[in-house]
Amino acid sequence: MNGQLIVIVGGFYGDEGKGKIASFLAHNRNVEAVARAGVGTNAGHTVVHDGITYRLRSLPSGFTAADAKLYIGAGVYINEEILLDEIERTGTAGRLFLDHHTGVITEDHIRRETESTHLTQTVGTTKSGSGAAGVDRVLRILTVAKDYTTLKGLTGNVSDAINDILDNDGTVIVEGSQATFLSVYHGSYPYTTSKDVGAAAAVSDIGVGPTRVTDVVVVFKAFVTRVGEGYLKDELSFEEAKERGWDEYGTVTGRPRRAAPFDYELARKACRLNGATQLALTKMDIVFPELEGAVHIDQISERAWDFIKKVEQETGVKVVFVSTGPGSTELIELS
Ligand code: GTP
Ligand code: MG
Repeated sequence: MNGQLIVIVGGFYGDEGKGKIASFLAHNRNVEAVARAGVGTNAGHTVVHDGITYRLRSLPSGFTAADAKLYIGAGVYINEEILLDEIERTGTAGRLFLDHHTGVITEDHIRRETESTHLTQTVGTTKSGSGAAGVDRVLRILTVAKDYTTLKGLTGNVSDAINDILDNDGTVIVEGSQATFLSVYHGSYPYTTSKDVGAAAAVSDIGVGPTRVTDVVVVFKAFVTRVGEGYLKDELSFEEAKERGWDEYGTVTGRPRRAAPFDYELARKACRLNGATQLALTKMDIVFPELEGAVHIDQISERAWDFIKKVEQETGVKVVFVSTGPGSTELIELS
């Protein structure tokens, strides 16, 4: 299983559990490196490993694989304070490198977003400063990591590092953030994030060409959630969502997430937009409680199989990962 580049992206509106899938793969694919692509600190990935819950906004979720090198791509925006805090909390100093050109978010970016009623009220963003940093990047006035005094020892050429690993038959996982329908190009504009966040953008973020990709894993939750504004088909009231056990709260903002049943049409579109080769279904234990914590294929109930088969039929892509709990090992891999 060597020499592979596995890209993980979200299929709906984010919070599908990409962090969980990235962490599982980091432990099960003998990876040499895990890299974070996507937007910036507007993401919130949750990893539950060895009974500890980590909430991460910058670090690749696959950090739980102790020997893996950790990279953040040039296309990503970091916030020094958040990054250094995460490195400390996870004990990953010395193993994490940013690209020389990773963008740096400052207080000024956060202030500009907080003062924008368009962003805070119409779009409903996380006010993390990622979008405003992107504006400065486009204007070519953004400070990048190599020019930011306190980050100097942490930077390197991430593109070279990852291409070298692949040339030497090593396996690399690339973790995107946000999700397909939050893409500023292909999502429900203007209710989107500030960048493209599909699989193609993810490899661009880290400086690797599309022909090197082995698999694109699109992660779908067994129901759909969305934070912020924008259309959500068959949206449930908060009470209905709570009744079904589908109530969730944002990792970054703590806001309740809006919820709706699984959307097959949206899933089909997501598979096309990303060139999906494999699917992961998360929170299967929430929709099918009999699957809670299951790790064996024979624990999958008939109704859960019906759902899995329907997803495959509607999308034309194989479901390979069935996630049955938040823990990094609570997963059934289908061959
Ligand atoms: P974004 O980049 O912000 O979209 O994050 P994400 O896709 O990594 O998802 P996030 O961690 O924000 O939300 C997923 C939540 O579901 C977290 O609290 C996870 O611990 C949890 N989770 C992931 N997979 C499963 C699962 O199969 N079952 C259950 N019960 N919880 C899960
Ligand atoms: Mg999240």
